[in-house]
Amino acid sequence: MRATRGRVLVGAVSAIVIATVIARVAPAGAAEASKPETPAERGLRLLRTEPYAPADVLEEHFDRLWEVWPEPLRKQAVEATPEERRTMAFSRYGLIEDPDDPDGPPIGVVEDGQGGWVMNCLACHQGKVAGRVIWGVGNSHFAFQTLVQDVAKIRKVAGDKDAPGASVGSFVPLGLSNGTTNAQVFSIVLTALRDEDLNRREVPKIPRFKNHDLDAPPFWNVKRKKNLYIDGFVPKTHRVIMQFALVPSNDGESFKKREEGFRDILAWIESLEAPEYPWDVDEDLAAQGQKAFNRACADCHGTYGPGGTYPEKRVPIDTVGTDSTRLTGMPAEHRRFYRESWFGEYGQLEVVEEPEGYVAPPLDGVWASAPYFHNGSVPTLWHVLHPGQRPTVWRRTENGYDRQRVGLEITELEAIPPGAKKIEAKRSYFDTSITGKSAAGHDFPEELDEDEKRAVLEYLKTL
Ligand code: HEC
Ligand code: HEC
Repeated sequence: MRATRGRVLVGAVSAIVIATVIARVAPAGAAEASKPETPAERGLRLLRTEPYAPADVLEEHFDRLWEVWPEPLRKQAVEATPEERRTMAFSRYGLIEDPDDPDGPPIGVVEDGQGGWVMNCLACHQGKVAGRVIWGVGNSHFAFQTLVQDVAKIRKVAGDKDAPGASVGSFVPLGLSNGTTNAQVFSIVLTALRDEDLNRREVPKIPRFKNHDLDAPPFWNVKRKKNLYIDGFVPKTHRVIMQFALVPSNDGESFKKREEGFRDILAWIESLEAPEYPWDVDEDLAAQGQKAFNRACADCHGTYGPGGTYPEKRVPIDTVGTDSTRLTGMPAEHRRFYRESWFGEYGQLEVVEEPEGYVAPPLDGVWASAPYFHNGSVPTLWHVLHPGQRPTVWRRTENGYDRQRVGLEITELEAIPPGAKKIEAKRSYFDTSITGKSAAGHDFPEELDEDEKRAVLEYLKTL
């Protein structure tokens, strides 16, 4: 209660502050204020204000989650202030503090006006790099499964089993390692509950699928693509990206009415630019790297700088050799449903029902989008360039950045240490021996010698 009242007060104070600021800048700001919102601005506003689903947790419960934490974390929380506890909670669940509203919910969470917090696209799609929010980078911290499990526990402790709690967690596993999620399987299951018009089926037609975790790709590359997802199986449209909002409680008709808003959300996604590498670059070395890159990599990944091209090339799975679970684990029925349903405009969209492999992604801003490959199995660009030296198990630090190897700052291990007994402790390690998490393949850099690899690594910083 105390916290809630405090927040109302803060809200009132900031309203006054904002009113004062507006009053002060009124003469110059008036023209600015009357400028109509662009579609991209509207899209971002919707993502930051519109609850697209029922609440996943009560704010009041979120602030009590520490009560169910394992020791010694719980003990630290007992001694912490409420503000410190929130920071600890964000860190535990990989939620990103909103730089525009540090006292409010994290980015990717919207308030429902009734004390509930609703997660949306940005919970998976908005992350931070070296501790800084960069718009469009995927959230490589998100501990979705741990969050949902803790919410279930606190509802019990609070004696409020009917309180909100992400229901999606009851029918599919959400993710075996922090930072990656079983995202395509949610979509397979959510769409299997619907007919082509998105009405609820009496008997769900759930096809056979394989659970596997994926790394959310950076949004700034979406504008370069005609087709979406790592296998490029669907043409890019605003309808396709709505699937996550198809939770059972949204009926078909009201879901479809959201379509206009998603045009704007797609416009926002396509307005994002890749971030520039913020540290020093050896320009001469990078220029040498560009030559080697154009020889060994550009056929698939395109060229960069003025006049750059992107071929959007789908590479057969046996050629790329990365983990195949995503490709073989997505049932043909699901791809067909896309084509035949409202999503695929009832057969109008050219959905690829049997893609033979993965599409080489654009590499713009690739320095910022670690970990690499569609399953997030490779922590740095140096490891992408050195296929034989990729770690079997690795664990990242929260905000560290490895400027030598360009990517996540990690500890490498042979196996998950026996001390990490609890399943949630295991989730802080990335174990490449688990199904769907292999870091093998993409041996193309092997045609470069060590000096060329060093130069290509430098060049990749500049994209
Ligand atoms: C649970 C995490 C999660 C949520 C929530 C989520 N996504 Fe994603 N999204 C992913 C992952 C993982 C991928 C990569 C899937 C693949 O390639 O198969 C992805 C892919 C995408 C892509 C394609 C990117 C590309 O380069 O091909 C777009 C666009 C996208 N999501 C938009 C959205 C929007 C809009 C929402 C909200 C309605 C949303 N996502 C909700 C995890 C999520
Ligand atoms: C024959 C086509 C092909 C060639 C040649 C190729 N790549 Fe790739 N690359 C791919 C594909 C396909 C993927 C996606 C693999 C996956 O995610 O499973 C990929 C992924 C990557 C990624 C990870 C991107 C991300 O965001 O996860 C990097 C980095 C990369 N390639 C760099 C290079 C470099 C550097 C070279 C040249 C030495 C190169 N590639 C040569 C096809 C190719």
